[in-house]
Amino acid sequence: MTRDQISILHGNAHPKLAQAIAEGLGVETKRATVGRFPDGEIDVKVLDDLRGSDVFIVQPTSPPVNDHLMELLLLIDTCVRASAGRITAVIPYYGYARKDRKDEGRVPISAKLAANMISTAGADRVLTIDLHAAQIQGFFDIPVDHLYAKSVLVDHFAKALEEPVIVAPDMGGLKRARAYAETLGSQVAIIDKRRLAADKVDWEHMIGEVEGKDALLVDDMITTGGSMVQAIRIVREHGARKIFVGVTHGVFCKDAVQKLEASGADGVVVTDTVPYPAPFPERFHSRSVAPLLARAIDAIHHSKSVSALFED
Ligand code: R5P
Repeated sequence: MTRDQISILHGNAHPKLAQAIAEGLGVETKRATVGRFPDGEIDVKVLDDLRGSDVFIVQPTSPPVNDHLMELLLLIDTCVRASAGRITAVIPYYGYARKDRKDEGRVPISAKLAANMISTAGADRVLTIDLHAAQIQGFFDIPVDHLYAKSVLVDHFAKALEEPVIVAPDMGGLKRARAYAETLGSQVAIIDKRRLAADKVDWEHMIGEVEGKDALLVDDMITTGGSMVQAIRIVREHGARKIFVGVTHGVFCKDAVQKLEASGADGVVVTDTVPYPAPFPERFHSRSVAPLLARAIDAIHHSKSVSALFED
């Protein structure tokens, strides 16, 4: 086997996505077992030859985050020791991203530590989608290809919305909202919120006009759903006609799906960077990032530009 060959590997985080990517590339996923020793330690064994191969390990670090991160690290180490030609960690959803700076005393920069661990394990490159903060790319001293899910989500909304306004649920989401608005030819509105603690938000007001329009709330992720449910309420109070939600990473912790279902949003669309809970309620849809990742992997493998293919 040589670097001429693409090898797709995966842990337990998202086998379905890995298989869809492999299918898109016209290859089979490599055979591996990623199990557990009786004490809970992770036990990895790759059954196929990887020597010299261009390996792509597909593993979002989604919940259970620690298990999936550790599986990724051990898979990378396995590939190093199996003499893979090059190892790319394909992390469609990068967990531990929220703590990306030291904004108060005595806290870690978790996103940097996770990046260090992935590089130290032996990854040569990272391929990811919609990082919580784009600057996390700089936490790696190896190349990072950072894709945007907008191209995957926007088609769905181009048809569904009449007189759209794109709403950022917080100040941090303004750039993303602008990118959607540019593609859809619409205006932008922002919800100005102040976060008091990780689970406590003091809501302020809306900047921009949503009255009588179809509002599309865009965000990088839904975890507990708290932020999005509040945002839906505020947009409704400001007179939006219909309310849609477009989010890259549907992490959906605890009762997030039920909360969003009860929020009265007219449609919720997420991608499959993270496996979505089944059965998905009516008005919830998922769009696959597999074709996007397959095209990126093909470009990386053939040393073609990725940024030229996928823009935000
Ligand atoms: C915040 O900066 C993020 O973009 C999301 O809005 C937030 O992490 C979502 O969290 P939750 O769903 O728990 O409110």
